[in-house]
Parts: sequence; C-alpha cells; structure tokens
Amino acid sequence: MAAKRKKSDDESIEAVDLITLLTPSSAAGCYEAEIQRPVPGEEFDLLKIAANLPDVPEPVSLRSASSAGSTHKPGATVHQLPTPEQKTPRQSEQEIESLLTGMRKPGRPQRISPLPDIADDSLERIADEIGQCQKCDLCKTRNKTVPGAGPGSVKLVFIGEAPGGDEDATGIPFVGRAGQHLDKILAAAGFKREEIFICNILKCRPPENRDPTLPEMISCTPYLQRQLRLLKPSLIACLGNVAVKFVIGPDSPGITRIHGQWFNSIFDIPTMAMYHPSFLLRSATRDKGSPNWQMWQDIQSLKQRYDSL
Ligand code: URA
Repeated sequence: MAAKRKKSDDESIEAVDLITLLTPSSAAGCYEAEIQRPVPGEEFDLLKIAANLPDVPEPVSLRSASSAGSTHKPGATVHQLPTPEQKTPRQSEQEIESLLTGMRKPGRPQRISPLPDIADDSLERIADEIGQCQKCDLCKTRNKTVPGAGPGSVKLVFIGEAPGGDEDATGIPFVGRAGQHLDKILAAAGFKREEIFICNILKCRPPENRDPTLPEMISCTPYLQRQLRLLKPSLIACLGNVAVKFVIGPDSPGITRIHGQWFNSIFDIPTMAMYHPSFLLRSATRDKGSPNWQMWQDIQSLKQRYDSL
C-alpha cells in the first residue's frame, strides 16, 4: 500500500456542510433531530428538518478527504497484507516481519501476532511510550502524540486512521471538524462519548495529512494492540477506507461496498466497516442512499448490536 497523497490542510475544497449550515446555534446538530424521530431507521430529510430551523450560518470550507474504494469480492473478509513498499530508517524489520508472519498464515483467519505480556501495562503507560516514540519519521514532524481517549474498559472502540491538524495540536483524537461530525452521529445514535474509546491506527499525524504508509501503520499497531488488550472491547468500529483496509485486509472491497458489514479483523474482534466522518462531510445531501443516510443506518445497526451485548 503506497503512501497516497491527499488532503493537505492548506488545500481546501469549498463544500457545504449542511449540518453546520442549517443548524441553529440553539441546536447541537441535525443528527440530533434524528433522536426525536418517532420511527428510527426511516430516511430523514435534512432539508425538511432545516426548513423549521432559524439562524443559518455562513457556509464553511472543508478539507478534502479520502474517497472510497471499489473492488468487490463477495464473501471476502480477511486478506493478507502486502510486503511493505517503503521502510523508514528507524523501523524494526523484525517487528514488521513478525507482524506480517502472523497475518500470513494460510488457511487461517488473518490475525496479528500476539504481543508478549507486559507486566503492569496500562493505558497511561502506553500513552507515555507513544509520547517518547521514535519508531518512524512521524516523530520528527508531530507536535503532540494522540494515543486515544476514553475509559479504561469499554465494549466498543472506534478506530480512525491518523490524527489531523487539530488532533496534532491538542493530543486528542477526533476533535476537528470530522470529530465534531462524528460526535453528532454518535449522540444521535445514543452513544455517549464517555462509554467508548476512540483512537487511531497511527498515533502521530502524517505531514499534510497524507495517507499513512503501511510501514507506519505496522510500526504503530503494537500500541493499538496493547490498548485493545487492556480495553477488551467486544466490538470495533473502523472508520474509513485506509483503516478498514488495514484491519480487515488490503484486498477487501472498498468502503462503499462494505460499510455497515461486520468482519473479523486482524485483532480478532468483530469489526464494523464504517465511513470516515470527513468523507461524510464532503457530501451535502442526506437523501436516501447518500453516504450520510447510509451512515445513519450503519450507526443504528452498530448501536443495536452494542445494546445486545
Ligand atoms: N481523522 C482521523 O482518522 N482521526 C482523527 O483523530 C481525526 C481525523
């Protein structure tokens, strides 16, 4: 998986975020309007909702976000990772090899190699180690590391791809525009941010928000593995094509095909593939079949499974 260039902070596209655009300051967001709908799961018409809302702010400009992939292989769930095409100087070859070996066992579910036990491991200790980490070159350009946020034991972990500019500045995942959009979606579905853990595969921001490289993801993954080992979630929600392709497999169909579906990821935890909130921000429509509409179906289905645990 080569490092594809994308989404620089400076390079912005003009897009209309209807949630922001049509939401009065008194309302937290149009997804919240969903909560009051009598029939959950029904298509929602944002324009109809918006027609009743006063106080329209100016349109905002948004960064571009990665789009969705396309190849579909029915029934394919978990696949092997390719050999890294690029290796950063500080990367431990052995570490990469041992991870890949764990994923390459033929005829078995693809899983990441288990990590050795670490006595007294804790989320705080992992965060401290991430803070000192120099395993890849992202340490040279980061401002803050972004280990993840949430309680020490959860039923559900959301995994994104990598911190962006706002996260790099604050050390907190999903606090920028995409994060705020995610917050609205979570709240509308009835999730409380305090009951879930939110993190990324990469704990440092890639320069100019380019896609993470495979070697970067592989060298960072042991932190995520340790976090998951402590958190013991029953479910994972994986946000966006890059993260999905890593935790489910690079040959998996693109996110437009597999969003809302469950997979057994490399972490051996049931994982739902979901759209990335920054991708959703690019789409102004909430019409039936649109990405935001689809996300609304997916998050409700996630919540249903979460509630059944
Ligand atoms: N996008 C991500 O994937 N993660 C963040 O934390 C912020 C934006």
